[in-house]
Amino acid sequence: MSLDVIILAAGQGKRMASTLPKVLHPLAGRPLLAHVLETAAGLSPTQRIVVHGHGGEQVLTAFPEQPDILWIEQSRQLGTGHAVAQALPALSTHGLALILYGDVPLLSVATLQTLLRTAGPDRLILLTAELPDPTGYGRIVRDTEGRVRRIVEQRDADAATLAIREINTGILVAPVALLRDWLQRIDNRNAQGEYYLTDIVALAVQDGIAVDTLMTRDATEISGVNDRRQLAALERRYQQRQANALMDVGVTLLDPSRLDIRGTVQAGRDVVIDVGVILEGRVVLGDGVRIGPYSIIRDSIIEAGAVVHAHCVLEGVTLAPGAQAGPFARLRPGTLLAENARIGNFVETKNATIGPDSKANHLSYLGDAELGAGVNIGAGTITCNYDGANKHRTVIEDEVFIGSNTALVAPIRVGRTATVGAGSTLSHEVPAGGLTLTRATLKHLIHWRRPRKKA
Ligand code: UD1
Ligand code: CA
Repeated sequence: MSLDVIILAAGQGKRMASTLPKVLHPLAGRPLLAHVLETAAGLSPTQRIVVHGHGGEQVLTAFPEQPDILWIEQSRQLGTGHAVAQALPALSTHGLALILYGDVPLLSVATLQTLLRTAGPDRLILLTAELPDPTGYGRIVRDTEGRVRRIVEQRDADAATLAIREINTGILVAPVALLRDWLQRIDNRNAQGEYYLTDIVALAVQDGIAVDTLMTRDATEISGVNDRRQLAALERRYQQRQANALMDVGVTLLDPSRLDIRGTVQAGRDVVIDVGVILEGRVVLGDGVRIGPYSIIRDSIIEAGAVVHAHCVLEGVTLAPGAQAGPFARLRPGTLLAENARIGNFVETKNATIGPDSKANHLSYLGDAELGAGVNIGAGTITCNYDGANKHRTVIEDEVFIGSNTALVAPIRVGRTATVGAGSTLSHEVPAGGLTLTRATLKHLIHWRRPRKKA
């Protein structure tokens, strides 16, 4: 049977107290809705339908157009039943519909697959959970034989119903044909004056259609985000999971609760990550890599045995085996540190290749630069790569020694084994070998006097 996934995302999310639509609030660096869309994609459905409303334009533009995602607007939020009804015309009549919520981000593909395995054209399947504190959720009401009779919302429940701890997660699978029929029959005569999707349960029972349930053990999976406290709590749980996954593949985390991963990390064995580290985008950490405290690494590849010391910011870089960065280094996109290269404190690089065993240990800017092997860059060296209009390249060949406080005005090439004297400003090609320097001659004015304050 075909499968359409319907993601309800039209709710306003009042309790977020935000101008940003709730489903765009980030969890682990990505919108809540992005997590749900990805989970849905994991089921390879016929299509993913997002029912959006509040902040519609903003939500739409936050996602690139994809052929299997259909966006349907619910202009007024009249309830979950009304929201699903908006998607009905787009559904394949002989298929199944899976309902997900845009604000329930951590549901796993595995749980949904289990749910779908029991689904069929003749039954309604609900995902439920038993919570120590069921407050706020719809309750699953069963008869004495344990068969589901209906779902009662918190606000419509009497004391006995409120005592039920089995709750409706909101996630369900229904045959499209039956769903169509049921949604035409629900009304909004309830405490909230809304068209409740949950009312289809009582209709199924009335029609003699089987209502089955799957109970999740993991409360995190079915947790929704209604306010920023819940968002923060889910973020922590998500991070804890990711930290556990890293530790399971052999990564030492000095404090698993002080690591944030906003993307994907592929890690080898015996990687050591100190506290306060943030990993973003796609990060690859080879065997034995060490990351010092409070470093931020985005979209980078750190190969075996490379070290990132404390307080570095790396983006779009590659560190070859044995390379070292920091403390306090800023490596910007296009930086490559070859084997055993070293970038030290207060050094910024951008679009720069630092050859094997080369080092720039202090206070430098290396942009649009290509350094050979065994190059030494003195403190305060600047590649002047920008003339106000265009960027130019600096090439420094093998075994060059650049003295401190040198300005290399690009485009420029420094030949093999050249030595550049400290304080030079170079705007011409520097020949290989020998010493090159531009330096004003020292003057000593013996009769010079300091100015004095006037009386
Ligand atoms: C709903 C369920 C409740 C369940 C709970 C689980 C109903 C009537 N109740 O309650 O049984 O325990 O979820 O979290 O279904 N939405 C729309 N359009 C609307 C209304 C809601 O798209 O008109 C979306 C919201 O954006 C949200 C989801 O539907 O993603 C759930 O809506 P919400 O108002 O949070 O439902 P609850 O009252 O929590
Ligand atoms: Ca909710």
